[in-house]
Amino acid sequence: MTIHYRVADDAPFYDAVGEVLRNDGTVIFPTETVYGLGANGLSTAAVKKIFAAKGRPADNPLILHIAARDWLERLTSGVPERAMRFIEAFWPGPLTLIFERSDIVPDVVTAGLATVAIRMPSDPVARAVIEAAGLPIAAPSANLSGKPSPTKAEHVLADMMGKVDVIVTAGDVKHGLESTVLDVSKEPYTLLRPGTITLEQLLKIAPDIAFDETLLKKSKLVQPRAPGMKYRHYAPNAEVYVIDRAHTPLEIESILDAERAKGKSVQYVDMAAEDLAGQLFAIFRNADDAGYDVVCVKSVATDGVGLAVMNRLLKAADYKIL
Ligand code: TXA
Ligand code: MG
Repeated sequence: MTIHYRVADDAPFYDAVGEVLRNDGTVIFPTETVYGLGANGLSTAAVKKIFAAKGRPADNPLILHIAARDWLERLTSGVPERAMRFIEAFWPGPLTLIFERSDIVPDVVTAGLATVAIRMPSDPVARAVIEAAGLPIAAPSANLSGKPSPTKAEHVLADMMGKVDVIVTAGDVKHGLESTVLDVSKEPYTLLRPGTITLEQLLKIAPDIAFDETLLKKSKLVQPRAPGMKYRHYAPNAEVYVIDRAHTPLEIESILDAERAKGKSVQYVDMAAEDLAGQLFAIFRNADDAGYDVVCVKSVATDGVGLAVMNRLLKAADYKIL
């Protein structure tokens, strides 16, 4: 049985939610990026429930969410001074940092890696949940494994009702793409997953950040350094194609017509990068609800948040560009 609390309607519930988390239960809550599925990040038994609820492969490590910086000392074997600059600039907010882990972090969180991913969300509901628990909260995106990350209350209710102890909803999330992931555990610092905190913003803090080459192209030789980036998630059941924005409107029309001529129902999406960032995952889910066979999305420039949008889009399209 899942208890559902609506932030707007229900009486204060944070004490009850904190109790569930301290007792190794599972709680879905909104963050500024996407909804997360949280559990006590120091408990192997609790974290195993996350993998079970999502159907997530065990080789994909989780992010620990904290509400206060003092947890950093306990969860890592030290924060490099240069890395502190990112914390000063972007925490609380949608930036996950990878550090060398300490011994109190269970193997189930890191999938056995020597590093741990940590982020401090800015969303007030997320912060209240973490504070109520008084623990670091391990939380992946709250979708069933293989589905796009949930950005609206209805997404988590559809995927997860009956699979977790508590669902806290607060309408639509602010950003709609998962956090930027930056590895500061070794030099050069490397961008593992782009997000709404952009590469350009990170380069202002440290001009020598490397770029995981698998972010925009498929590679049979190189494994992505964030294990989760190798999966074809973010994808709807419909086929996704990226349409090169260099095409003229007429060329795009004939590409769409060619798909329709195969008897397929086609949705065409032409949006600015900033709007796609917030809506891409909802567009994918809606395409399935509406029964489209194909979703064609016009590409965007890969500067700013466009890098994150193209990363998610190309993965969903299995790098098919028309
Ligand atoms: O915005 C977000 O980050 C959301 C919200 C809920 O906070 N969470 C999220 O978690 O997107 P998840 O589990 O869906 O994605 C975490 C990513 C995965 O690609 C995973 O492989 C990578 O971070 N990751 C986690 N720990 C890592 C580590 N120690 N080294 C490298 N990559 C790691
Ligand atoms: Mg995810």
